[in-house]
Amino acid sequence: MKSDVTPLKWDNETLYLLDQRILPHQEEWVTVTNVEECFHAIRDMVVRGAPLIGFTAIWGVVLYLKNNSNASLDSYIERLNYLRTARPTAVNLEFEIDKAIIRGSEFHKMNGNWNGFYDEMVQFAKDQMTKLLEDNLAMAKTALDELNGRLEDRPWNVMTICNTGALACGPMGTALGVIEYLGENKKIEKVWVSETRPYMQGIRLTAYELVKLGLPHDIVVEGASNYLMGRNMVDAIFTGADRIASNGDSANKIGTGTLSIIAKYFNVPFYVVAPTSSFDLNINSGDEIDIELRDPNEILSVQGIRIAPNESTAFNPSFDVALAENITGIICEKGLISPVTKENLLRVVNQ
Ligand code: MRU
Repeated sequence: MKSDVTPLKWDNETLYLLDQRILPHQEEWVTVTNVEECFHAIRDMVVRGAPLIGFTAIWGVVLYLKNNSNASLDSYIERLNYLRTARPTAVNLEFEIDKAIIRGSEFHKMNGNWNGFYDEMVQFAKDQMTKLLEDNLAMAKTALDELNGRLEDRPWNVMTICNTGALACGPMGTALGVIEYLGENKKIEKVWVSETRPYMQGIRLTAYELVKLGLPHDIVVEGASNYLMGRNMVDAIFTGADRIASNGDSANKIGTGTLSIIAKYFNVPFYVVAPTSSFDLNINSGDEIDIELRDPNEILSVQGIRIAPNESTAFNPSFDVALAENITGIICEKGLISPVTKENLLRVVNQ
C-alpha cells in the first residue's frame, strides 16, 4: 500500500520537491540542486511535515556531497549544522543531521576523502523510503488492532488535524496513513478534517490527499471540535507529532493540544502516531520543546488578501503540546505506548 501522492523525487542527480505552498489547485515541482536551496525549501515550507523535513535533509546531504567532493570534514559538518537550523520544532531534522554527521565523520576519518560516500548516501536515502513505508504500515496495523479492541464493530468517524499524509512523510502517512489503512479495511464512515489555521494544512493538503484516496470527509473549522465531540460524532482522533518528549508530551501543529483536552473531556480516544525518529529522549517534558514562531502575516492575510484591520498585529506560534495525560496512546513503528508514561515509552522505544 503506497499513496499516489509523491512529495519528493530524485532524478538525474537532482532533487524535485512538490511545492506544497500552492496545493491543491496547482501541482508544480521545485528543483533543488544544493544544500542552500534545500535549506530554503524546508524553511519556506515547499516541503513540511516532520518526517519529510528529515527525509529532505538527507537529500540535502547528498547534494552537498555531489557539489563538494573535495570538501574538508569541517566544512561538511558546518553545512549540515546550517541545514539543521531550517526549522526548529521537528526533531526529525536534527535526528537525520546527527546521523549524517556521525556517518560522514567515520567515513572521512577512515578514508581521508569522500570517494564512495556520495553513492553510499544516495543508497541510504533510497533505503529510507522503503523503511518509512514499512514503519508507517506497522503503525497503521497497530492502530487498527487498538480500535478493534476499543470500539464497536462498524465504520468509524475519525478526526485529524494538520497534514500527516504522504505529503508530510514520503511514501505513506502517519496519522493519515492510519486513516488510509482504516479506509482500506472498510472502517471509515467519515473523516473530520480540521482546517488548521493559519497555514491551512488540513483544508488544503489533507483534503487533497483524502480526495485522491476516495475517502469521505468533511472539513470543519478548529472551533467545531467541542460541537462534534459533544454530540458523539467522533469515535477517535489521530494526529502526528513533531517532537515527543521522554514523558510522552507531544508537540504538533497548533490546536492539537486543545483538541486533546476536549477529547479527554468527552472520553474520545486520542492517539499520536509518529515514528521513533520523532522522539526526543534528551528532554523530560514538552516544556523544553522549541516552538516555532512564524510570520504574523500568515494570520492577518488569507492568500495574499488582508483580512485583519491594517492596524492590527498578530502572534503566530505554529505548534503546541498535547500533554501526556491527555493522550490515550502513542503509536510508533515499535508498537503502542498506552497509558502514556515515561516507563512505557522507554520500554517500547528501546526494544
Ligand atoms: O508546519 P508543518 O506543516 O510542518 O507542521 C506539520 C505538523 O504539525 C504535522 O502534524 C507533523 O509534522 C507530523 S507529520 C507526520
